[in-house]
Amino acid sequence: MHHFAFHKGSLCCEQQELSYLSERYGTPLYVYSAQTIRDNFQRLEAASAPLDHLICYAVKANSNLAVLNLFAKLGSGFDIVSGGELYRVLQAGGCAGRCTFAGIGKTQEEIDYALKESVHCFVVESEAELEIINRIAGKLGRRAPIALRINPDVEAGTHSYITTGKAHNKFGIDLGCAEEAYAYAASLPHLFIRGIQTHIGSQILDCRPFVEAVEKLSPLVVRLKECYGVESFSIGGGMGIVYQEALESGTPQWWEGADAKLLTPERYAAALLPLLSSLGVKILFEPGRSLVGNAGVLVTQVIQVKKKFTKRFVIVNAGMNDLIRPALYEAPHQVVPLKHSSHLAAGTADVVGPICESGDFFLQDTTLPNCQPGDYLALMSAGAYGAVMSSRYNSRPLAAEVMVDNSRSFLVREREKLSDLIRGEHTIDTPSNAPHLESG
Ligand SMILES: Cc1ncc(COP(=O)(O)O)c(C=O)c1O
Repeated sequence: MHHFAFHKGSLCCEQQELSYLSERYGTPLYVYSAQTIRDNFQRLEAASAPLDHLICYAVKANSNLAVLNLFAKLGSGFDIVSGGELYRVLQAGGCAGRCTFAGIGKTQEEIDYALKESVHCFVVESEAELEIINRIAGKLGRRAPIALRINPDVEAGTHSYITTGKAHNKFGIDLGCAEEAYAYAASLPHLFIRGIQTHIGSQILDCRPFVEAVEKLSPLVVRLKECYGVESFSIGGGMGIVYQEALESGTPQWWEGADAKLLTPERYAAALLPLLSSLGVKILFEPGRSLVGNAGVLVTQVIQVKKKFTKRFVIVNAGMNDLIRPALYEAPHQVVPLKHSSHLAAGTADVVGPICESGDFFLQDTTLPNCQPGDYLALMSAGAYGAVMSSRYNSRPLAAEVMVDNSRSFLVREREKLSDLIRGEHTIDTPSNAPHLESG
């Protein structure tokens, strides 16, 4: 569920009309619903309540300070993958002691920073990384807490770019080598073993891959607990969301079959709790998309409608630089006009951005009312892997971000100005316009 719905023909986020926000803050505009984020978190909390557990929100999904601050206030931990994410969490009021630091290529500076801030643990992906962390911890006179990421070789049934738990993926240590890696970790004097971690992929809509991964790793967890006193087992993130809701009279709504299609927190917990509760270790979850994905939309404005022989193109002012998921993963974001359309005729169209790439589209051959220049459209479910993956490609300033909480709206990221585009850039000092070669 989420808090985007039509009231009196106008699409609202909680108590705020999106068209009002678009006029006030301009477009392209990311709008987040605070209550949807709280509800998503609390639903997973409630479903996991029988377990000793900690939800570590995956910061990469949406690292806006206001979003992180909401999670900090909810008591969440954080799954981070860079020194920058740790910095953001701390600035947002989060606690380093509730951060798990993952990623296959942590730099020495990042490890040093995370050690000084006393993160909960480093999620380590190779023996070489164990050595680096051991060395840096030794220099600081510390013992670094670690968990090893184990790759269970499980097919997650998702897009290949976001499948991470197969043997051929770059992530984790092969299950067959896990005990050897733990023995090695135990032999290093400046480390202590805190846990075990796995993460098999993202946008997974079925419980089975999670169950398979946990079943494969559980015997190892039990042995590690006996041998090394392992305290925690992180089963990663990956729960998927529904990107295409049913549309009835232009209204995005939860349709009856949605729950059957959706991996709800309750269904996820019901499948996994029986396997996890007997392990006797703390269970960590690292959800990202499922907590923030449906809590955000990207509002864009129609610039032009272009008709060609074969197609109608609705050209909008958001591009792949603002939301790259369609171009990167062919991910379909539902496009919803903010007002119930007065332009009656509906037809098919491609909704495209202004960027000079044919891959710069949001939906192709979609049914859309006859939009006019100036109309606003919402790209739904853009709260995860949206703003965080945006770029300034084609020298386009980054979009503004707004958070709505009930009837109030807050600008949580200012729209960039043209001057931001060249911040930190310099020309070089050469004689201007001097011909390098004289003709002769
Ligand atoms: C290690 C790790 N944990 C958690 C996540 C979050 O995944 P999701 O947003 O699908 O829940 C990711 C995403 O790539 C990840 O790499």
